[in-house]
Amino acid sequence: MEKQIADLVILNAKQLLTMKPIPPLDDEGEDNPLGLIEDGAVAVKDGKIIAVGKTNDVIKQIDFGKNTVHIDANKKVVMPGFVDPHTHVVFKGTREREFLLRQQGVPYAKIKKEENTTIISTVRWTRKASYEELLDITKNHIYKMIDWGTTTLEIKSGYGLNLEEEIKILRIAKYFKEYSPLNIRSTLLAAHVVPPEYNMRSEKYVELVINDIIPIITKNNLADFNDVWCEKGAFTREQAKKILKAGFDYGLRPKVHADEISDAGGAKLAAEVEAISADHLVHSSEEGLKKMKEAGVVAVLLPITTYSLGECTFANGKKMLDMGLTVALGTDYNPGTAMSPSMPLVISFAVVRLKMDIVSALYGATLNAAKAIGMEKEVGSLEVGKRANINVLDIQNYEEIPYRIAENYVERVISNGEVLK
Ligand code: NIG
Ligand code: FE
Repeated sequence: MEKQIADLVILNAKQLLTMKPIPPLDDEGEDNPLGLIEDGAVAVKDGKIIAVGKTNDVIKQIDFGKNTVHIDANKKVVMPGFVDPHTHVVFKGTREREFLLRQQGVPYAKIKKEENTTIISTVRWTRKASYEELLDITKNHIYKMIDWGTTTLEIKSGYGLNLEEEIKILRIAKYFKEYSPLNIRSTLLAAHVVPPEYNMRSEKYVELVINDIIPIITKNNLADFNDVWCEKGAFTREQAKKILKAGFDYGLRPKVHADEISDAGGAKLAAEVEAISADHLVHSSEEGLKKMKEAGVVAVLLPITTYSLGECTFANGKKMLDMGLTVALGTDYNPGTAMSPSMPLVISFAVVRLKMDIVSALYGATLNAAKAIGMEKEVGSLEVGKRANINVLDIQNYEEIPYRIAENYVERVISNGEVLK
């Protein structure tokens, strides 16, 4: 068979993490759960991986042309681009005052009365922004994510809360899906909170979501998933179930903001509606988690949110792993509870506060995160045929990833074969 001319090669990685476990050679052989290759290389053509292995072997498998780009990863770690399966990146404005008040222990009711606080203020600013302005702001948020090595992300709506504004936000997500080199999935979160114009009439708003917003969003192919915040002050279990079932009938796989502030039965609900993922899970009951496991719902944990809320109780990642759940990690990037674009920081929190082992934390930020958005066949590991989403990290050992807290060692970022950093 004729050899292919690579567009891009990354050679001599000290450690290349493929995220495809390599079985031991014999009974005495060691496990290699990360599929780690020493002195590894990866070759890319037309945005896809065409060879991966030891540098010497990869060099033999491909041809080099005069336009082949070489990246020398000498003494560095190479791994798949991070997958962030939960973000609210389409927003205008910041809410630092609310963040600071919270850390001083100011009660929620008081924070609500302050100006420029709570989700509704973000809704007001976001509604006022034109499509073009919001697109520019979102670009800025996404550049920051790329800087930290994210090449795949999920984008939620939820700061529009009416048909026109939810469309505006999801059209921005669609713009990045179509015109950026990143891998994007989008989620309708019309049921984030009840908008002010429906105060005390939440049932009416639920009807609007079910009868108008979901049908029109799906008709225009603007979302892949349908999400609801199931919590006191947002939507009840019954309302959430109705909305998620309605979305399901229109082909939108459910997601749930579940048990973030209290045990609102979100984990169980996610299992009942066959959600692809349930996210947050800080206060979920063991029974709810068991149901999720049985139904194959991915657990998405968002530790930056817990930190930013000033809470001490984090989701019990270790327990979920012991129960056999598929655990993914995300930033929850949003102006209220998680103003951070950094997946490496999330991995630090996962290890320190969720007590996840390093292997599980790395899967959580790559392949398992891809599972949470239905993209595991395309992204999340370095395998021939998959999209070429690759990070070069300026560290010598993957165990430094959680250890170097808030240091940006992400040196090169490649998404679909394009060098972005
Ligand atoms: O995931 N839980 C609800 N939504 C966001 C917060 C959004 C905001 O405060 O603006 C979250 O934490
Ligand atoms: Fe969220």
